[in-house]
Amino acid sequence: MTSTYVITGASRGLGLEFVKQVSAQGHIVIALARNPDASENLQKLVDNKKVFAFKLDVLDKESIKNAVKEVNEASPEGIDCLINNVGIYGNREYDILNTPGEEYLEVFNTNVVAVSNVTQAFLPLLRKRGQENLKRILNISSLLGSISSFSPWRPDCTGTAYLVSKCALNMLTKIFSNKLASENFIVYAANPGWVKTDMGGEQAPIEACDSISDMLKVFDNVSAEQSGALIDSDGQIISW
Ligand SMILES: NC(=O)c1ccc[n+]([C@@H]2O[C@H](COP(=O)([O-])OP(=O)(O)OC[C@H]3O[C@@H](n4cnc5c(N)ncnc54)[C@H](OP(=O)(O)O)[C@@H]3O)[C@@H](O)[C@H]2O)c1
Repeated sequence: MTSTYVITGASRGLGLEFVKQVSAQGHIVIALARNPDASENLQKLVDNKKVFAFKLDVLDKESIKNAVKEVNEASPEGIDCLINNVGIYGNREYDILNTPGEEYLEVFNTNVVAVSNVTQAFLPLLRKRGQENLKRILNISSLLGSISSFSPWRPDCTGTAYLVSKCALNMLTKIFSNKLASENFIVYAANPGWVKTDMGGEQAPIEACDSISDMLKVFDNVSAEQSGALIDSDGQIISW
């Protein structure tokens, strides 16, 4: 069955790879990016039949409103899936002893507040699919947001704001999942692994194509029982 996906942060990295692979599966993809015209790789995928691209800066409420309007016009029957992929790492040098408040706010705004704003804004389009159809929301999180997976292997604790923000994103995901469960929604968070992108860096061991194909296998099979969880690329639930 063909579904309609909305994917944020589609200009590069994991977002772009999501667009590539989801469209190759035959689904309709609405790719959202701060500046879609500037992403040559995204433009190569856009055909305005099955792959569309519109502007979205997740930090700008007006931009979110316009994006919802454009998606609604492109897909008046609603959408099936929302992938909140946008994320920023912030300053990697800061640790728990020197992270300034502004750093927390900046990273939190993108990684948590914006996910909430974008999800709230797209809910009416997801709800258009009706009670009988499953709607799925995937928030791209990180193992770094799992408290129980943390201490043994990351004693340096740098990039503190990012770690705290992904932990908060996991809770945001759980609450959305609880709230929307009775309306036939599955909402969950995924850990993509350490992936070769601008954020992950060249030394990352996983290629974007492999991370996305693994995450999509999980996405295609995710069950209501897994809703609200942080799920690894192999489908295993990661403990908080
Ligand atoms: N790579 C990894 O190893 C790794 C590991 C765990 C989790 N993750 C998570 O995976 C997701 C994608 O990461 P990535 O590695 O693909 O990162 P990336 O290469 O740095 O790409 C980030 C994407 O987010 C977009 N973006 C940032 N701020 C935005 C805003 N205000 N509005 C709209 N778009 C915005 C960027 O758009 P522009 O091109 O306009 O800047 C870009 O498309 C993030 O949530 C990240 O935390 C990544």
